[in-house]
Amino acid sequence: SGIQWYPGHMTRARRQVEADLAKVDLALELVDARVPVSSRNPDIDRILGQKPRIILLNKSDLAHPAATQKFAESFRSRGIPALSVDAASGEGVKAIAPAVEQALQQLLQRWQQRGMRPRPFRAMVLGIPNVGKSSLINRLAGRRRTVTADRPGVTRGPQWVSIGQKLELLDTPGILWPKFEDPTVGLKLSATGAVSDLVVDVQHVASYILQAIRDKAIETLQERYSLNVLEVPEASWLDAVAKRRGFLLSGGVYDREKAAIQVLGDFRAGKLGRFTLDETE
Ligand code: G4P
Repeated sequence: SGIQWYPGHMTRARRQVEADLAKVDLALELVDARVPVSSRNPDIDRILGQKPRIILLNKSDLAHPAATQKFAESFRSRGIPALSVDAASGEGVKAIAPAVEQALQQLLQRWQQRGMRPRPFRAMVLGIPNVGKSSLINRLAGRRRTVTADRPGVTRGPQWVSIGQKLELLDTPGILWPKFEDPTVGLKLSATGAVSDLVVDVQHVASYILQAIRDKAIETLQERYSLNVLEVPEASWLDAVAKRRGFLLSGGVYDREKAAIQVLGDFRAGKLGRFTLDETE
């Protein structure tokens, strides 16, 4: 998640994705189910053009289930097939290949009308950093892919992995940049780990998380951090966490930075509950 995006970097990433897209019939657009809108690349529609796609709401194990269903329905109502998956456990992954077949029925018919023998459908995975692209490819491929050592003078191009009889997947994902302009989106992407902690104010992000989940996690925050969000003023929340955990700096000052890192880690690991940070419309 440590990638920093510069214009040249973005142009190169886009060209790579466009070159790979030309080789496939369909794109599997991976989003983070906790932030299904904020974790989409801002130019994705333009980059994909007419290419068929399926949206995969990944990390659904960490998101609020009802919200994930709402977002999936909202994508479907706009004509984009959407599935909820968990690439870490494999939940929902088996539904992907049939969904690809379903989405490419027209292509199959076209081949048949032209008297062509059907070949396996070709797909690629794309999404912003840390959304679970590699995990998903490994899951779909059904084994840990072995990384072959570089041999001098040999450039290894992208490889295809067979997913059953009817689907081939590009073994390297397309990496796209996230949205940066909206500060709230930045906070959400930091909260979920799409943006490196090295480039954000960790205390600010942790405070944002506590604020975002406070009403739904009153008991959890009480139990885990002895933090009563209804009584303690917001400015002292990280002090409360530090106090409970014994995070102290010299002079008995609460180590708010360490408390913030704790909150971030707990949130990302799902220890505070399952939360969706984007609003369903
Ligand atoms: P990327 O290729 O898009 O950059 O993402 P990658 O697959 O490397 O996944 C990023 C992190 O997200 C990994 O955690 C991975 O295990 C985790 N992850 C991927 N899919 C899911 C999911 O559906 N649910 C959950 N809970 N986690 C998921 P990591 O901490 O970087 O590594 P590790 O925990 O695997 O050691």
